[in-house]
Amino acid sequence: MVSLSPNLKAKLAQPLKIGSFEVKSRVLQSPLSGVTDMVFRRLVRRYAPESMMYTEMVNATGLHYVKQLPKIMEVDPNERPISIQLFDCRPDFLAEAAVKAVAEGADTVDINMGCPVNKITKNGGGSSLLRQPEVAEAIVREVVKAVDVPVTVKTRIGWSDKEITILDFAKRMEDAGAKMITVHGRTRAQGYNGNARWEWIARVKEVLSIPIIGNGDIFSVEAAVKCLEQTNADGVMCSRGTLGYPFLVGEIDYFLKTGEILSPPTPIQRLECAREHLQALWNYKGDRGVRQARKHMTWYAKGFAGAADLRGQLSVIETVDQGLAMIDRVIEQLANGYEPELEIESGESLGTLVAT
Ligand SMILES: Cc1cc2nc3c(=O)[nH]c(=O)nc-3n(C[C@H](O)[C@H](O)[C@H](O)COP(=O)(O)O)c2cc1C
Repeated sequence: MVSLSPNLKAKLAQPLKIGSFEVKSRVLQSPLSGVTDMVFRRLVRRYAPESMMYTEMVNATGLHYVKQLPKIMEVDPNERPISIQLFDCRPDFLAEAAVKAVAEGADTVDINMGCPVNKITKNGGGSSLLRQPEVAEAIVREVVKAVDVPVTVKTRIGWSDKEITILDFAKRMEDAGAKMITVHGRTRAQGYNGNARWEWIARVKEVLSIPIIGNGDIFSVEAAVKCLEQTNADGVMCSRGTLGYPFLVGEIDYFLKTGEILSPPTPIQRLECAREHLQALWNYKGDRGVRQARKHMTWYAKGFAGAADLRGQLSVIETVDQGLAMIDRVIEQLANGYEPELEIESGESLGTLVAT
């Protein structure tokens, strides 16, 4: 039985203050490259209307050389609160990109200092900034000068076990003007392996005054509450737990606000959501959207009888109609009493299930 301590309850009653910007939810939807486009964010926001969402990370150098705004940076004027995430190692290009982000409607600008992918780190961006704290500082200073919205940072606890530098690094970011830091409790060397080490998030929280958001392994309401209690963080950010499960941020937000657990969506409701997601990706991006939808569809198709077959079929769809027909067929089977034997081990949450 999950419950909130009186201290945590009191904190949750206050808005999250990111500099001058206030957010009425303590649960955030993380930036996820290839996932958190406008279509996905709209689904998450339906269940978590007050939560902060992030675009996929945008390359500031790329932006400098193109005239047209990339689709991943598009923001719906009605979607608030929203942060646009940028990555790069050049302070001047990042400052220029931040101005464009604000023009597009960003409430905050987030700088990615945690991405572990080689393609990004070898060019000096993402988590490689953990090893160049002076450059990271210069970036934050330049971007803060360029825009009048709060500038935030998302990073990891260090490069490797031998270089856990987050305490010094986070302090430097705060001193340079960052208004919030999200800490993913893994090193760059860990990638996405092993557990997130929330104890480091707690230690960062002890030494900084700006809000700290805990990230890593938030797959359920229970995990969110545990992370908030153990770290004293000002909020939590959900990531892989939302893949094929855009309900998670809303479920956690609802619990933090009411102390009540929402009943999870049924397999049919999840498939209806998958259907809507596929259709919307097609409407927004055409054939490219259908290709992108394949991975999303396989993430949705988990945890009910016939899921494995459906997953295989959806992973190779060529057209939107083909995908919709496959989903409809399974929805009909389930509606006609096809026993939905959940493939879930007891105690495992749907959030964990879709993320694996
Ligand atoms: C598919 C995928 C894409 C990601 N893209 C981004 C990104 O664009 N920007 C970012 O800061 N982090 C990105 N991340 C990292 C997540 O935001 C998050 O920090 C990480 O997954 C840890 O949280 P989790 O253990 O709950 O998944 C990505 C992670 C995944 C799995």
